[in-house]
Amino acid sequence: MADKKTFYITTPIYYPSDKLHIGHAYCTVATDTIARYKRLCGFDVMFLTGTDEHGQKIEEKAKAAGVTPQEFVDNIVTGEKGILDLWKLMNISNDRFIRTTDDYHVKSIQYIFKKMYDKGDIYKGAYKGMYCTPCESFWTESQLVDGKCPDCGREVHYAEEEAYFFRLSKYAKPVQDLLESGTFLEPASRVNEMINNFIKPGLEDLCVSRTSFSWGVPVDFDPGHVVYVWVDALSNYITALGYGNDKYNDYEKYWPVDVHVVGKEIVRFHSIIWPAMLMSLGEPVPQKVYGHGWLVIDGGKMSKSKGNVVDPYVLAEKFGVDALRFFLMRTFPFGSDGNFSNELLINTINIDLANDLGNLVSRTTAMVEKYFGGKLPADRAADPQDDELVNLIRSTRDAYAVHMDAFHPHFALEEVFKLIQRANKYIDETAPWVLAKDEANKARLASVMYNLLEALRVALILLTPFIPETCEKAFAQIGANAESVTWEKAAEYAVLSENVEVHKGETLFPRIDMEKAIAELEELNKKNAAPKSEPVLPNIDIEEFAKSDMRVCKILTCEAVKKSDKLLKFTLDDGSGTPRQILSGIHKFYEPEQLVGKTVVAILNLPPRKMMGQESNGMLLSAVKEVDGKEVLNLVMLDDSVPAGSRLC
Ligand code: MSP
Repeated sequence: MADKKTFYITTPIYYPSDKLHIGHAYCTVATDTIARYKRLCGFDVMFLTGTDEHGQKIEEKAKAAGVTPQEFVDNIVTGEKGILDLWKLMNISNDRFIRTTDDYHVKSIQYIFKKMYDKGDIYKGAYKGMYCTPCESFWTESQLVDGKCPDCGREVHYAEEEAYFFRLSKYAKPVQDLLESGTFLEPASRVNEMINNFIKPGLEDLCVSRTSFSWGVPVDFDPGHVVYVWVDALSNYITALGYGNDKYNDYEKYWPVDVHVVGKEIVRFHSIIWPAMLMSLGEPVPQKVYGHGWLVIDGGKMSKSKGNVVDPYVLAEKFGVDALRFFLMRTFPFGSDGNFSNELLINTINIDLANDLGNLVSRTTAMVEKYFGGKLPADRAADPQDDELVNLIRSTRDAYAVHMDAFHPHFALEEVFKLIQRANKYIDETAPWVLAKDEANKARLASVMYNLLEALRVALILLTPFIPETCEKAFAQIGANAESVTWEKAAEYAVLSENVEVHKGETLFPRIDMEKAIAELEELNKKNAAPKSEPVLPNIDIEEFAKSDMRVCKILTCEAVKKSDKLLKFTLDDGSGTPRQILSGIHKFYEPEQLVGKTVVAILNLPPRKMMGQESNGMLLSAVKEVDGKEVLNLVMLDDSVPAGSRLC
C-alpha cells in the first residue's frame, strides 16, 4: 500500500503568562478541527502546539511572584487548569507538544543560531532604538504609532545594547517574491498589509540577541547574550521534528509544513522573519501561513472586565466543550474578526445544536422506536419525494471539503446545516405521523426513516472534526458502526444496514434558557471580578529599601505632552533649589490644572529615562489598584505643610 500523504499543521506556541481566554482557544480549536478533518480524509497528520517560555516578560513576572522563571512557567503550563489542562478540556488532538525550555529545543536553537552566524547572516553590532517590553520588540521611530508600540499600543522606551543582528534586509526580495507568489499567505488581504507596512518601507536587519536579561537560550559562543525570543519561538516548528537534535526524527517526513495557523498580529513574524530564517538555513519555506482574525468584545480587545464571561473553563462547564468548539467555528469567518458575546454563544447553541441538529436526532430515533420498535424492516418504498434529500446526502461531503481545504470552516458548516435543515423539512413534507396511521404505508415509512438516518450519518461524519464527542454518541444512537462513518462513505447513500437499529439516548444539546443563563454568567463574572488582593512581593532587606531616595516635592508646573494622550510633564521643587523634570503617564486620571501647587512624593534616584523625546528624572508615586476590572490611580499627596525635599524613610 502506498504511504499515506502527510499533513503538518501547527498553532503558535503560547506565552505562559496570562490566563488564557476563549480568544486564545479559538486558534487552537480551529487548528484542531482542521487536523481532525485531515485525519478523517486519510492523511498522516502531525499537529503541533506548545508554549513559548523564554523572555524578559516571563523573567519579570517570575521575579514579582518570588519564584524562578522555570517554576513560574511550569506552574502555568503543567499546573492545575494550566495550558495542558486547557487543551485536554477542549479535546485538542495534538500529536506533539513542545516547550521552548525543553533541553532538545535549547540545543537546536544554539545550532540554528550558530549556523546562521557561520553563514555570515548573523553579525555583532549595537542596538539603539525604541523597545516595547511586553512585546519584546525593538521598533524604529517610523514604525511607532503615536509614539507607541504598533502591535500593542503601549509605551516604548529608548534602549541600547550590544547585540547580534540577523541580515533580514538581505532577504527582502526573496521574501517579497514569496509573499506575492501563489497562496503562501492567506487570506490574500494580509499580503498587501505585509508588503506595504513592512517590505516597502525597507526591511531592516533584525536584532536577534539580548544582554539585558538572562531568561533565554544562551548564545553558546558568546556568553552574556541570549537568543531573541522570536528566533527561539519560530524555530519550534522544526526543532519539534528533530531539526538540530536527536529527540525526534521526522523532519524529512513532515517539513515543509502544510500550514502555520496564526493570529493576525503575528503574521509578520511568520511570513517575513520565519521564511528569511529558513532561507538562511538553506531549508524549504512553509507552504502556507494562515492569519486568522481575532475574537473581540464590542470591537475591542478581549478581557475579563467587559461584562462577558471569557474563561473557557467556566464556559465549557456551563455549556459543554463541543458546544463551545462548535460556536467558535460556526459563528465567525475564520479570516476576519468576530464580535464575541455570551448571548451569541447561547443563540448559536439553541438554534443550530439544540434545534436543528439535536431535534433531528431525537425526532428520528424516537420515531424509529415508536413505529418500528427501534429496528427498521428491510421492506422499503422509495419515492421521487426523496430525491432532493438523497442528492444532498451524496453531494454535501464534496461541497464541505472545498471549504475545509480553503480554511473556511464556517462555510463548510453551512453546507452541513443545509443538509440538516433539508432533512428537518423532509420530516414536515413526508409527515411520518400520518403515514404511521395506515399499515399499508409501512414500507414508505421505513424509507422515510432510513433516509433521515442516512442524512444524519453523513452530517455527523462531517461534524466529527468540530464536535467529536457528540458525534460518537450520536453514531451509537443512529446505529452507525465504524465502517459506515468513514470519509469515503460520507459521499455515499444507503450505507447503513437495511435493518438498522437505533437507540434513543440522552438529549445531545438541551435548550438553554437565555435569561437564566445570562443572569448566572453575570453572577459568575461579578465573583471573578471581585477585587483580589495583590500577592505581597518577596522580602527585600532594609539596606536595599534605604537606597531609594523618595522626597516630598511641590508641583510647580504641569502640562500635557504633545502627541501623547497619556503623558504629563511636571516641573517640581524637590528642595534642592534646582527644578526637576518628571514625566508621568497619568493624564487619563488627572488634568494638569488639578495638580499645580500640590504636594506629592517622587522617587528621585532612578536613571534618567527618555519618553517621547523628553527626559524624565524620577517617578511620581501613585496608589494603584484594579477595582471592578478598572484601573484606579491616585497620586500620593501630602498635606501642604510638609516641606519640599523631606525624605521618606
Ligand atoms: N508566543 C507567541 C507566538 C509564537 S509562535 C512562534 C504568541 N503567543 S500568544 O499566547 O500571545 O498567542 C497565541 C495565539 O492566540 C496567537 O495566534 C494569537 O493571535 C491568539 N489569540 C490571542 N488572543 C486572541 C483573540 N482574542 N482572538 C483570537 N485569537 C487570539 O503570540
